[in-house]
Amino acid sequence: MMAAPSHAKLLPLITKSEIKAQITKIAKEIHRDYLEKDLVLVMVLKGAICITADLMREIGLPLDLQVVQAKSYDGMERGKLNVLGIDTLNVTGRDVILVDDIYDTGYTLSAVAAQISEKKPASLKTCVHLQKKDVKGQKKVKIDYPLFTIPNSFVVGYGLDYNEQYRELPGIFFLEQP
Ligand code: IMP
Ligand code: MG
Repeated sequence: MMAAPSHAKLLPLITKSEIKAQITKIAKEIHRDYLEKDLVLVMVLKGAICITADLMREIGLPLDLQVVQAKSYDGMERGKLNVLGIDTLNVTGRDVILVDDIYDTGYTLSAVAAQISEKKPASLKTCVHLQKKDVKGQKKVKIDYPLFTIPNSFVVGYGLDYNEQYRELPGIFFLEQP
């Protein structure tokens, strides 16, 4: 059996109940904005899994859940961005909200959004769990439904990983550099 990961380097940043409260608030806004619309949530795997699962149950409207997968990190190092699943998205003429875990440089979200735009949705908005502040060269893409702004440090939990570890943590934690 594999040894359980040590959580010694984790410092709590956002609790489960703080996340739930923000989800409730944002879900109400989305409910109000998407009445009578053909809502599609496009979740960016894997990091947005927890936030999307919470959100879709709180919005209180019929919706279609679709997924793409973006991978741009290797540990804490940025690698080449890979977007999978764009080909099979069914978003043309529909009202899309792109849901992602974190906005760091903004490169991932803007690249995925640009690829979705090419499929001509009726509308495209973005919902992001965590937006890092003070990131050098951060793209200035508008986030329509932001949940939290956080300091520019590496975080894990609630879907976010470090080398595929810590996604299962029930809140957001700073991961100290090893
Ligand atoms: P961006 O393209 O720089 O905005 O980075 C966004 C992607 O990088 C996110 O979707 C995450 O997968 C990953 N990422 C960026 N910062 C963190 C972090 O602090 N913890 C875990 N993943 C991160
Ligand atoms: Mg991600």
